[in-house]
Amino acid sequence: MAVKLNVLAVASEVYPLIKTGGLADVAGALPGALKTEGVTVRTLLPGYPAVMARLKRAKPLHAFTTHFGGPAQLLGVKVEGLDLIVLDAPHLFDRAGGPYAGMDGRDFGDNALRFAALSAAGAAIAQGLLADWRPDVVHAHDWQAGMTAAYLTFNGGPRTPVVFTVHNLAFQGQFDRKLMGALGLPAHAFTHDGVEYYGDIGFLKAGLRLADRVTTVSPTYAAEICTPEWGMGLDGLIRGRADRLSGILNGIDTDVWNPATDPHIAQAYDAADIAARAVNKAALQARLGLEVAPDAPLFGVISRLSWQKGLDLLLAALPTILETGGQLAVLGSGDRWMEEGFANAAASNAGRISVQIGYDETLAHAIQAGVDALIVPSRFEPCGLTQLCALRYGAVPVVARVGGLADTIIDASPMAMAARTATGVQFSPVSGPMLESAIRRASSLYRKPDSWRRLQLNGMASDVSWTEPAQAYASLYRDLAAG
Ligand code: ADP
Ligand code: GLC
Repeated sequence: MAVKLNVLAVASEVYPLIKTGGLADVAGALPGALKTEGVTVRTLLPGYPAVMARLKRAKPLHAFTTHFGGPAQLLGVKVEGLDLIVLDAPHLFDRAGGPYAGMDGRDFGDNALRFAALSAAGAAIAQGLLADWRPDVVHAHDWQAGMTAAYLTFNGGPRTPVVFTVHNLAFQGQFDRKLMGALGLPAHAFTHDGVEYYGDIGFLKAGLRLADRVTTVSPTYAAEICTPEWGMGLDGLIRGRADRLSGILNGIDTDVWNPATDPHIAQAYDAADIAARAVNKAALQARLGLEVAPDAPLFGVISRLSWQKGLDLLLAALPTILETGGQLAVLGSGDRWMEEGFANAAASNAGRISVQIGYDETLAHAIQAGVDALIVPSRFEPCGLTQLCALRYGAVPVVARVGGLADTIIDASPMAMAARTATGVQFSPVSGPMLESAIRRASSLYRKPDSWRRLQLNGMASDVSWTEPAQAYASLYRDLAAG
């Protein structure tokens, strides 16, 4: 067994306590997978109300008045196998709404302070704030934790190595330079090689620039973000750090997502008993008010409704689904105009299109178990998790060939079908016509039961677990800890 390592993860979302997207899934599942690698992870996260409500027998670890006002304290607690350090700072985190925005959907005006406080706490723990535990490596996730490396770099003290993982370059945490003083960083941190970003302060930029290693969540996205097209203003900086950049694919929690034991689906099944999916399809159709038609190809979507996810293209492609005799089940929330577009489509196509606006975890499981195909037409996708769940559930992914979607799905080309390796349908470039042709291709494959069954079984046999990704992270941590 390799040498034991301690890692402090810093994340703004951790499943099952608080989640708006895949970041939470990753932060919630990776620590468990790393145990097998001899890596002990403690995860620092903000004390939002949803988090505080889950804390039973939390142990006060440290009380302080932060640079960001106070009082505040760090609480240690174990929840669902996770070893958490909660930043309990009511003036920053005890408020109604989501992690980043209030009930009105508008971002909190003090997000810079809120997440700088999280990052500063991470840096302090890395430098030995807690008497009995100190990490060998810090693993900071996304812009909310991006300043961890800045505090370690500019405020003196031991420089614990930092891995910074970008889950999505589109969310950058860019704030007014006037906040420099309030963030408690020295003026000389405000340079090109520090936290300065196009005249503002960039939290994501700081992480990218100052971390010892940068990772993102798929090899293809790691390459994409080096280009002006997908670098979102940061490609120059990222290219300059290419020797420190790598892409490590996400996994999914194969206990949470297991069709053989899933309590949220009508009929448990596995690859040996895949015909039992029909029960789930019928139950889903009935539950959603769709015609209970066993032979109609049923497409599903589980997603944020946003430009990134390309679901406006799907809205325009709905006639193709209907023409090919298919049905569609959508679960999602996001941009108002897209929500309305899907709701209107459902209203005028009752029995064929069903749309649930909102966030519903149990329905997400029922959709994965019941649909024939899951559509993910993203314009860009750092990794994507729903296509991994779909593979595990025997729902055939129909995906854009970008980012992690390119890396996780094998297109049903004639060669891949002959070699028995295909797991889904890919299309490229990401456009309406190409999505429509992918839908047609999926529908005709669906009507060849042997081919379709082969796609499903290949998908179910794919390794979507955290085992390999955890090995990759563990070896990265070890390299860093060894200096
Ligand atoms: P992103 O993080 O960009 O939103 P991912 O595919 O990485 O995309 O992760 C999305 C996660 O959120 C998945 O676990 C997915 O099942 C879940 N999810 C997305 N939308 C919904 C919804 N409306 N209801 C339930 N779960 C959802
Ligand atoms: C981001 C990305 C998504 C990825 C997730 C977890 O939200 O949009 O592609 O799967 O982070 O890494």
